[in-house]
Amino acid sequence: MTQANRLRATASRESGAPLLSVRDLVVRFRTHDATVYAVNGVSFDVAEGETVGLVGESGCGKSVTNLAIMRLLPRPAGRIEGGTVLLDGQDLASMAESEIRDIRGRDVAMIFQDPMTSLNPVLTIEEQLTETLRAHRKITATDARQRAIDLLALVGIPNPEPRLRNFPHQFSGGMRQRVMIAMALALEPRLLIADEPTTALDVTIQAQVLELIRDLTQKSGTAVILITHDLGVVAGMTQRVNVMYAGFIVEAGLTPDIFARPSHPYTVGLLHSIPRIDGGEGEELIPIEGAPPNQRLAPVGCPFAPRCAWRTDRCLTENPVLTAVDGSGAAVLTGAAVTHRMACHNPPTPAEAVAGRPLGRGVAVDAR
Ligand SMILES: Nc1ncnc2c1ncn2[C@@H]1O[C@H](COP(=O)(O)OP(=O)(O)OP(=O)(O)O)[C@@H](O)[C@H]1O
Ligand code: SF4
Ligand SMILES: [Mg+2]
Repeated sequence: MTQANRLRATASRESGAPLLSVRDLVVRFRTHDATVYAVNGVSFDVAEGETVGLVGESGCGKSVTNLAIMRLLPRPAGRIEGGTVLLDGQDLASMAESEIRDIRGRDVAMIFQDPMTSLNPVLTIEEQLTETLRAHRKITATDARQRAIDLLALVGIPNPEPRLRNFPHQFSGGMRQRVMIAMALALEPRLLIADEPTTALDVTIQAQVLELIRDLTQKSGTAVILITHDLGVVAGMTQRVNVMYAGFIVEAGLTPDIFARPSHPYTVGLLHSIPRIDGGEGEELIPIEGAPPNQRLAPVGCPFAPRCAWRTDRCLTENPVLTAVDGSGAAVLTGAAVTHRMACHNPPTPAEAVAGRPLGRGVAVDAR
């Protein structure tokens, strides 16, 4: 861990508060013909130095949640309409644009699936890296250039000095991703948000880039929110995981607990719809029938109800809140001891979670 991060981490730990604390975050897109209920009251924490996974099907609100944290929602349609985003006690959600600009890059950085989202195609890598460094640090041009060379070397770019003069398009996909990681980590942020950082890369390069993110963030003590569709990546990279569905977090917990004892029907569905990481012999894959709800309609009841084989009448009108569980579905723990939460009125039993379907109860799913 770097000296600066070590000092800040100590201060944060002494205060007992997590590094990031998102509470009841609501994000809507208001366009001329519709309102999109993109994020509907999401709460989660990220502790100093930990890696937290965020998973869920396409459109469930993973990117929008994190763009809201960074205050990078597409304007004017996208707006934070409720909640707080506390970073060390400062609310990013209500901060002035001039203040958030200082925080972006320095305290919180984001990397995207497409590096061209963060790299400027018409500037050399040297211009981009040194500009970032000099905008936030009192540093001479010579020192900024040397730091840029060190950063490229750190992310594994061969011959970093001559490559500083290159433009982004002169790098291969994997190398461009490395440059983006160098940019994101240039100011040693305390939190890195990685939004599907490797999906556009081939499998071997994916593994290398993920390993690089893991090594660098572990060394610097940087906390990470890792957004991914790949549950294998979640298992290998994260300590905790939040499962999102239709703009809600429906299950959250320590990664090994979520894999060993999924407690929400959607998480059970996700785990049964992909091949097991340990290659479970003869395991039958069960796709989740149906599609996520139309987020242009205000949510009523449990959002997963139309696709859920465990649903009851109550589910159609009452959206369950996140409740602490012990993995058997029973609400047991309270306060700081809580490590696993889920939002469901009628959770699967452990045996049903293993089977991937209700045993002797439940309803036929109408896959709308
Ligand atoms: N600019 C926008 N205008 C209107 N609606 C939007 C906009 N961007 C996102 N949305 C909507 O917000 C919801 C959440 O989208 P988001 O991009 O966060 O999904 P995601 O979980 O990141 O999906 P993916 O896995 O495909 O990246 C979706 O219903 C999406 O259609
Ligand atoms: S049992 Fe009810 S509350 Fe639980 S996921 Fe299914 S529909 Fe939602
Ligand atoms: Mg996304």
